Amino acid sequence: MPRLTNGLGVQVEDTHICVVMVGLPARGKSYIAQKAQRYLQWLSVPAATFNVGNYRRKDAAQPTADFFDTNNAAGERTRRAAAEAAVADMMKWFKSGGVVGILDATNSTKERRRWVLETCQKEGIETIFVESKCDDEELIMANIRDVKTTSPDYQGQDPEEAAQDFRNRIRNYEKIYVSIDEDGDESEMTYLKMMNVGRQVIINRIQDYLESRIVYYLMNLHIRPRSVWLSRHGESMYNLDGRIGGDAQLSPRGEQYALKLPELVRKSVGDDRPLTVWTSTLKRTIATARHLPKHYNQLQWKALDELDSGVCDGMTYQEIKDYYPDDFRARDEDKYNYRYRGGESYRDVVIRLEPIIMELERSEDILIVTHQAVLRCIYAYFMKKDQEKSPWMHVPLHTLIKLTPRAYGTEEVRYPAGIDAVSTWRGKGSTAKHEDPVPEVI
Ligand code: ADP
Ligand code: F6P
Ligand code: PEP
Repeated sequence: MPRLTNGLGVQVEDTHICVVMVGLPARGKSYIAQKAQRYLQWLSVPAATFNVGNYRRKDAAQPTADFFDTNNAAGERTRRAAAEAAVADMMKWFKSGGVVGILDATNSTKERRRWVLETCQKEGIETIFVESKCDDEELIMANIRDVKTTSPDYQGQDPEEAAQDFRNRIRNYEKIYVSIDEDGDESEMTYLKMMNVGRQVIINRIQDYLESRIVYYLMNLHIRPRSVWLSRHGESMYNLDGRIGGDAQLSPRGEQYALKLPELVRKSVGDDRPLTVWTSTLKRTIATARHLPKHYNQLQWKALDELDSGVCDGMTYQEIKDYYPDDFRARDEDKYNYRYRGGESYRDVVIRLEPIIMELERSEDILIVTHQAVLRCIYAYFMKKDQEKSPWMHVPLHTLIKLTPRAYGTEEVRYPAGIDAVSTWRGKGSTAKHEDPVPEVI
């Protein structure tokens, strides 16, 4: 059987890359690590993060700043042991099929970096160092308040005291921190150095395609506050008939939703925020977005068109079961990977959505009006949903979803329009036209 491609369209089974984070505390290393991991996993590239702080906490649960003083021999031993344990686990994970392992730690000295590099080289693992430098004191203090005072290191402690102690922890790191290749003697290493959240970027010796994709993704990240709004098109004539695919017009209730959407959007976005609207190239999404204010930029993306159901386009699920019973069964068995004859699978849709995700990361406020399967894939990226489960998620018609990225996750709010629509959800085994979704769902 041919091997399935991942979302990068390349065979990566024999590739092992260790992404080694570098930087002082509160520079967004864990943030960057978890985003890279989520992106890669969404593309079906096996990725995992090994956070040295979590290993250290097994032996030193709530240390104060002086634990991180390099003159503190006991502290040094514990931290060294934590780094060794994290790297040992990462090596085991690579042997079990891992492709991109992310070592999330400060790795702030040349010695530590050399040790990681040599340990990886011995096992034939590529390394790419990713450093985040930041000298914006205000941003660093905001980061400390945002994530550090609630870290398990300070659980139950006064947030102001925690912030002060964390500041002192950083001071201790500053005594020994050397930025990557600062002295010109790490120039053989592969690295990406980002200064002040990408205002300046240095890229050195990127070796292969996967590395370059990771670097490109990381270069597109920003941390300006923004949201992404998602909506399916209004109910279509095909939805009423229980038919899939096609390029049908909106139903009368779908038209009502299109008329209501500007108000829903205004309530959630506000009047002054500029919004860009993306639709697919199909009539039902364009019609749904057509009453939105003219000053919103609108863009049509072919990549946002509904999953192509090939020879089954225009059929009901019952007809598919009647004409192609084996296909119907196969899709239920593995809905993520099942590819319609002459059409697409969810895996295929994720591959074509990769540029959309990249563009979304670069952008600010965006409203996407798209289709059930495509929305499931985009939602899965933001909410870190299991790829096997995402094709079964319930995404109702006539509902605006607001997703707001936060430090370590995404916040969600839903705005139902209060306009009835049929359900297009289908449970495993069923051929239902209009079935009530079971409440496992998103
Ligand atoms: P670290 O792992 O370096 O100690 P964290 O990842 O825990 O830091 O810090 C998270 C915070 O860093 C978030 O509030 C996020 O907005 C912010 N952040 C993300 N990327 C960067 C960056 N490149 N530079 C500075 N801060 C960032
Ligand atoms: O029924 C609406 C629809 O958008 C179809 O056009 C599409 O084939 C289907 O949903 C995708 O959902 P599922 O993967 O659950 O069949
Ligand atoms: C930590 O202990 O929180 C940590 C990140 O360790 P190190 O600075 O040793 O990488």
